[in-house]
Amino acid sequence: MADNLTEATSPATPRSPRAAIVVIDFGSQYSMLIARRIRELNTYCEVVSYNATAAELDHLDIRGFILSGGPNSVYDEGAPHAAEWVFTSGLPILGICYGMQLLAEQLGGKVGPGREREFGPATIAASQNVPLLADLPSELDVWMSHGDRIEELPPGFSSVAVSENSPVAIMADIPRGYYGLQFHPEVVHTPRGKELIANYVHGVCGAEANWTPGNFVQEAISSIRAQVGTGRIICGLSGGVDSAVAATLVHRAIGDRLTCIFVDNGLLRAGEAEDVVNTFERNLQMNLRHIDASKLFMSGLVEVTNPETKRIRIGNTFIEVFEAEAKKIEGAHFLCQGTLYPDVIESASHGAGSARIKSHHNVGGLPERMELELVEPLRFLFKDEVRRIGAELGLSDEILWRQPFPGPGLAVRIIGEVTEEKVSVLQAADSIFLEEVHAAGLYRDLWQSFAVLTDSRTVGVMGDFRTYGNAIVLRAVVAEDAMTADWARLPYELLARVSNRIVNEVQAVNRVAYDITSKPPGTIEWE
Ligand code: XMP
Repeated sequence: MADNLTEATSPATPRSPRAAIVVIDFGSQYSMLIARRIRELNTYCEVVSYNATAAELDHLDIRGFILSGGPNSVYDEGAPHAAEWVFTSGLPILGICYGMQLLAEQLGGKVGPGREREFGPATIAASQNVPLLADLPSELDVWMSHGDRIEELPPGFSSVAVSENSPVAIMADIPRGYYGLQFHPEVVHTPRGKELIANYVHGVCGAEANWTPGNFVQEAISSIRAQVGTGRIICGLSGGVDSAVAATLVHRAIGDRLTCIFVDNGLLRAGEAEDVVNTFERNLQMNLRHIDASKLFMSGLVEVTNPETKRIRIGNTFIEVFEAEAKKIEGAHFLCQGTLYPDVIESASHGAGSARIKSHHNVGGLPERMELELVEPLRFLFKDEVRRIGAELGLSDEILWRQPFPGPGLAVRIIGEVTEEKVSVLQAADSIFLEEVHAAGLYRDLWQSFAVLTDSRTVGVMGDFRTYGNAIVLRAVVAEDAMTADWARLPYELLARVSNRIVNEVQAVNRVAYDITSKPPGTIEWE
């Protein structure tokens, strides 16, 4: 597990103390979800490793802790425990599943293996009206998860709710503000879980709901100014939401001392390069260098058919072009990146210590080589928060809700060698698909929707002529994140309209197929 989550803090971290809840992570898949739920309540929350020290968190005004679940049993040898300073802080603690067993064991109770493991839906009945359950009914549907049971409650605690199989579904020591839950309040299968979390955060811990987009923007602007002084910042724009919001924040903070570089690799969706220029240069009045490097990218792709070789060639050309342009910007010592909180946690938990550079920003190695200091104003934000902050900054829905797009662009959606002609064919087919998805009001419901140009040619008939054209595949998926995805059940009428239009309007194409593979076993992209 992570041993340096909090060391990953960059100088751009908002420093002003604000009410915060700290989730102490014992290896649960849900720790991030707990943090998101709390942030949705407009209270700030950070996830730290179980062995974080108090000193590492002194930038926060901590109002309470949550001990997460975890894969271990508290009585396992070497099982992680909560640090002593958490208990001596005098602050409230909420233990969830493993976290509850830890509370029980570390405070003098006894935990042992349960006769039966209990996972899944259950109903709990409260026997006492405790602050944690304020305004909630005495019976609650919850998502249970436990293999161990509390054999003896620690001194000061009592059981305040039971389920059919669990005599201690909730335990409480009200004066100290200590609570333990045998179930997961953060998952959607606990329908009133968010209210329970709100009772803990706002009621038991007394943490204010002051984590709002407006407050964040003010703090981020101050900390960017403090970090860069009178310096200049470079930012790579990709057209995606993260770099757009990061650049807009930096622009608010330092105005013309920000220069954005937009490398057009010639592998973008139809009209995308113009959109980026219109938005950032014309509307937002940013200093934008638009480099049309499509010829250079294309020349690096001649006769390349292997997907990984395509990625490497494109990545290298990107760095070459970006670096050459960045060098022209005199006095720029800072590089702005749209790194998000999940990347920070992920890279810290792999022991990297600082955020992994997202592959689609493609500037790996550049900060060190050019001795640029990173400015990462979004490194404590989740994606939904980035969108809220983007809206606060006045960015359009079109930018904020744009579907993800891979760094290597259409090159990984053209099977076989990439040529300018194939890029044009794919752009045309893809824009028809996107136009119709928008018109059907489905764009935001889909994680991604795009066309793929296969290297298969098929026989067809149009009027009195036989044709021998290219086959296009449509791909649309729904997903929570890109780790898994399901193919979207698009309406037949929509698919019919798209197929008709593509075959009629895109000359080289005479066949359209729809990809009905989920991930796994498929991937979202074809290459
Ligand atoms: P796959 O195809 O692996 O994609 O299911 C998962 C997500 O990652 C995006 N993707 C990439 N993004 N560089 C990127 O920046 C890449 O090389 C790359 N390959 C895939 C893909 O669009 C999806 O959102």
